[in-house]
Amino acid sequence: MSTRYTLKIYRGSPGHQYWEEFEFELIPMANVISSLMEIQRNPVNKQGSQVAPVVWEQGCLEEVCGSCSMLINGKPRQACTALIAPIIAQTGNTTITVAPLTKFPLVRDLIVDRSVMFENLKKVSGWIEADGAYDRGPGPKMSQRKQEIRYVLSTCMTCGCCSESCPQVNSHTQFMGPAPIAQVRLFNSHPTGHMQAAKRLRPLMEAGGISDCGNAQNCVRVCPKKIPLTDAIASIGRDVTLQALRDLFSFPDRE
Ligand code: SF4
Ligand code: SF4
Ligand code: FES
Repeated sequence: MSTRYTLKIYRGSPGHQYWEEFEFELIPMANVISSLMEIQRNPVNKQGSQVAPVVWEQGCLEEVCGSCSMLINGKPRQACTALIAPIIAQTGNTTITVAPLTKFPLVRDLIVDRSVMFENLKKVSGWIEADGAYDRGPGPKMSQRKQEIRYVLSTCMTCGCCSESCPQVNSHTQFMGPAPIAQVRLFNSHPTGHMQAAKRLRPLMEAGGISDCGNAQNCVRVCPKKIPLTDAIASIGRDVTLQALRDLFSFPDRE
């Protein structure tokens, strides 16, 4: 006998959100995105009414771009890797709730505006300035251990799941969330990036910076890339303190 499942989707526009259910037959490897595509092909709800197709964002379909992040059964995660069968097996429930992230402005249905994450990366200069006009040679060597620490940090896809789970990211604070802080660790630990370490650390001393972290540790639990966010926050916290002292005593920036 075939299994049927229901996606209960919190949809609509700002100020007018409502739940709407759609029913499907379970097919092997079905995931939340393939179910949303099915709604797009045939936008008929569980009551049999023709409705506007649900809108969502997607890019890579392999948990690399972060654009399909949403709340699935209340948990922030990527819809493209949310397989239906394991969710049903885990919960024993054939109804799965799907809702947009709540810490970002709602655009429509499952689309939110995550621009703030990219603005925060700009604030901390989340890149390495390198003049690619001529070949500078192979550059300094990096130890295996450092490479391993940096690799996992580099997998951040600015999905926003960490901010969604963080109690300190709310309408009463300006906290930038853990992801940009982890990116400061990534870029400051690069031999070239290190030359601009102070430029990345100073914005973290401002309102919304590192001192807003309450160490609730929710972020590490939800990060799909298993980035050790609290380790990064602790490490960068020490660097921020040292930088504040250097600034206080007007020591020159480290080179
Ligand atoms: S740190 Fe993890 S949860 Fe946060 S944006 Fe990056 S990948 Fe997503
Ligand atoms: S440790 Fe807690 S307060 Fe700090 S960024 Fe992570 S979830 Fe937010
Ligand atoms: S579509 Fe890119 S992470 Fe899901």
